[in-house]
Amino acid sequence: MSGKKRLFIETLGCAMNVRDTEHIIAELEGDYEVTKEIKEADLILINTCSVRERPVHKLFSEVGAYEKIKKQGAKIGVCGCTASHLGSDVFKRAPYVDFVLGARNISKIKTAVKTPKFVSVDINHDESEYAFGDFRSSPYKSFVNIMIGCDKKCTYCIVPQTRGDEISIPSNIILNEVAKAASNGAKEIFLLGQNVNNYGKRFSGNHDKIDFSDLLNLISKVDGVERIRFTSPHPLHMDDKFLQEFSSNPKICKSMHMPLQSGSTSILKAMKRGYTKEWFLDRAAKLRELCPSVSISTDIIVAFPGESDEDFADTMDVLEKVRFEQLFSFKYSARPLTPAATMTNQISDEVASKRLATLQARHTVILDEIVESMRDMVFEVYFEELRAGGYVVGRTSNNFLVQVKGSEELLGKLANVKITDPKRMVLYGQII
Ligand code: SAH
Ligand code: SF4
Ligand code: F3S
Repeated sequence: MSGKKRLFIETLGCAMNVRDTEHIIAELEGDYEVTKEIKEADLILINTCSVRERPVHKLFSEVGAYEKIKKQGAKIGVCGCTASHLGSDVFKRAPYVDFVLGARNISKIKTAVKTPKFVSVDINHDESEYAFGDFRSSPYKSFVNIMIGCDKKCTYCIVPQTRGDEISIPSNIILNEVAKAASNGAKEIFLLGQNVNNYGKRFSGNHDKIDFSDLLNLISKVDGVERIRFTSPHPLHMDDKFLQEFSSNPKICKSMHMPLQSGSTSILKAMKRGYTKEWFLDRAAKLRELCPSVSISTDIIVAFPGESDEDFADTMDVLEKVRFEQLFSFKYSARPLTPAATMTNQISDEVASKRLATLQARHTVILDEIVESMRDMVFEVYFEELRAGGYVVGRTSNNFLVQVKGSEELLGKLANVKITDPKRMVLYGQII
């Protein structure tokens, strides 16, 4: 026994929250060690997401359940995007919560834990140069933030209200962090930001104004870095320089996230995405031409207010043309204080469900064809995780999950794998 108190932390939402959770653990490391057992925790934290309505409901049902089973005297803290968004209203819905700490305020976690009913949710708080302690949940892959906040004003999206304006983290801080992660054995670096390819537009102090393509190039030269991934890039900022760097730099993994949201130019305009259907198709075609091994993933929202059958047909048309290797699809969810929430032409849930099912069913067929075409092909896989029954899983450069027979020795290693049984969720193969 270390004599430290116990921390239970649950992470909802996106990769930024996963990294924020690592930062929280690092800040508290002197006093707390992580436990997976809620019942033995002295501190229970939920790192929340408010991008759609459902995770917000889930939060309140969960804190209610935690309150009933927690150890006597244990504290409960609500962190992250729903904390930013609801502030002290969290106490009104869940009076037993001890503190509320917004997504851009996690450097104050130690004070929050010590101060009764502490609330800090200022979205102008600047943590872009804060030196967080060092904690990483995986020795093989390291998340590295390159910016905080988001300057876009997509009309459906709550993120600018929860994470504030976009500020880039100075490149010297990023490069130091990458070097440290790589020297600790992480061959893969995963860069994070809401609009990564808009990197370098604004810093909080005076710093070298390099862009995202330059940053990728610098990171690829750091000793020990074998693979670079990033999320999320924005289709609007996919200029030729970026596509060129992506395609020609062998350290950059050949998997690109291109969040389409809608295939209809008029819906894209209502969403304030800043690009057209044609621009998106042009960028995707250019990317496939420059980089034939690329896989393209996307996010699509169906039933945005005013979406007609023709608009939805445009989304289906982009799906046919781009044949995304991975699809994350959602029914539009009205979020408080976003412009889309008060648009008068909201779509019924029945239509939304039908469109989502149509989109997902067609994508499943496309994906089955894609994975079948990978049978007998050989890919370099980076192994990261053990699976029950003597198996190990890892990812190809273009982000397909691959499973082979094997044990610990494979973890953190790259090996060539022949795909023998490709399935939608995982490609089964053999090391050659
Ligand atoms: N910065 C990223 C998005 C982060 S949010 C980008 O621009 O791509 C992740 C995804 O959640 C979005 O891409 C979008 O598809 C979805 N999303 C955001 N707000 C939503 C809403 N109000 N309803 C449904 N889905 C939403
Ligand atoms: Fe939200 Fe748009 Fe910013 Fe992405 S770019 S986080 S969808 S406002
Ligand atoms: Fe959710 Fe906040 Fe990420 S709203 S998707 S956790 S930026």
